[in-house]
Amino acid sequence: MPPISLNRRAILAFGGTFLFLLLLSGAVTNHVRPDLVQKHIPDSWKSKLPPPQQDEPPPKKEGNPEQAWQEEIFPLAKAGKVPKINPKNIVRETNLKTPLLIGFTRNWYLLEQAVVSYLAAGWPASQLTVIDNTGVMDSNLRGLLTAKNPWYLNHTRLTQLGVSVKRTPTLLSFAQLQNFFINYAIEQDLGYFFWSHMDVVVLSDELLPEYKSVYERAVEVLANTLEERRHWGLKLFAYDWLTLVNVEAMKDVGGWDTQIPFYMTDCDVYSRLTMRNWTQDPVSAGFIYDVGSHLKDLAILYPEEGHESELNTTRFTNLKMELEAMMKEKQSNNGGRNYWQARQDGGQGEPFWRNPKGFERGINFWIDKGRELFRLKWNYGDCDLIAKGYSYGDDWTDKKPNIPQ
Ligand SMILES: *[C@@H]1O[C@H](CO)[C@@H](O)[C@H](O)[C@H]1NC(C)=O
Ligand SMILES: *[C@@H]1O[C@H](CO)[C@@H](O)[C@H](O)[C@H]1NC(C)=O
Ligand SMILES: *[C@@H]1O[C@H](CO)[C@@H](O)[C@H](O)[C@H]1NC(C)=O
Repeated sequence: MPPISLNRRAILAFGGTFLFLLLLSGAVTNHVRPDLVQKHIPDSWKSKLPPPQQDEPPPKKEGNPEQAWQEEIFPLAKAGKVPKINPKNIVRETNLKTPLLIGFTRNWYLLEQAVVSYLAAGWPASQLTVIDNTGVMDSNLRGLLTAKNPWYLNHTRLTQLGVSVKRTPTLLSFAQLQNFFINYAIEQDLGYFFWSHMDVVVLSDELLPEYKSVYERAVEVLANTLEERRHWGLKLFAYDWLTLVNVEAMKDVGGWDTQIPFYMTDCDVYSRLTMRNWTQDPVSAGFIYDVGSHLKDLAILYPEEGHESELNTTRFTNLKMELEAMMKEKQSNNGGRNYWQARQDGGQGEPFWRNPKGFERGINFWIDKGRELFRLKWNYGDCDLIAKGYSYGDDWTDKKPNIPQ
């Protein structure tokens, strides 16, 4: 997925403590400006905020073990032997659709890991769609890219796992991709959909007194949401690493502003949702980790053969620890996303190949331009539009922020 940055100061300022937490999400997605985020966070909140990430790989440190290049991280799938999931994770008694969209631009290995983690946590493969936003047209479908190409995606593998793939017509920005999701939902006649970042790993909480998989809990959240019949806009699982979206709400505010392609575009749309009274509540379904590296073998996401329904096993404990370490690694700037990306740097000369460093710089350029445009649009450059007295329709007017003297 294209780098994005999520910063929800607008909602936060409006909504009090729990909403305030959402702000922190800005610092844990792919492209962040934690410097900007930090300015507005009281000291007591800072500890939760991961440190900034860099765009260039950090200099190599002694004793920082290199993750060796691995072309295959799921050998069992390659051998046609995808493991069984815990039968407790399978939800049978629901007739609710749970469409889950995962956008993908770069890093097949992170995508495969995210997809497999959702499947292992009970999400039915038939409900999962990878939105191929690589912008390489049919090249991946035809198997023309090699594994070291950042835009490589193995269609055969996703099909083998039962997961659908839908291609965007061309490379879209983050805001465009979000509107693509909404339009896709409209086309499919869906009133709501889930979307997830591709650089996450979900894990069902096996320590719960009454065990429920990530999927079962997500279905419960959905069922309760639909029952409430409230003016709900979004349900945010761990910031917005997984989000349930009300299509009606997004239509009401006119969708995402594609003229703000990456950073601040979430502030813009989430503020507009709030201005129109669409709620945005944090909810939970289990552990969700934000990672920039991958497990050595994705089989670890599945229970051991013959012990499928056992909970709180050594495997679970070790996996949870490893995922926590991976998340910490990403946030500590000590490798993480860039460290990984630097390893998948091949594919020169293959169809639609772009210079990965140039691609990154180009995205940073548009991130900056998007921030400029946000400021033009609102006469204000920060996320807390609501706190500064902005109402629906105040964009592109002479309205100035209410700043106490
Ligand atoms: C893609 O996945 C399929 C199905 O698992 C596998 O047979 C094939 O080797 C993979 N392709 C590459 C290039 O790894
Ligand atoms: C999980 O396993 C650990 C180690 O065996 C044990 O200490 C802990 O009490 C267990 N927790 C639950 C909720 O079963
Ligand atoms: C939102 O709620 C406020 C307070 O209840 C109300 O005054 C306002 O008219 C509502 N706005 C919309 C667009 O429904």
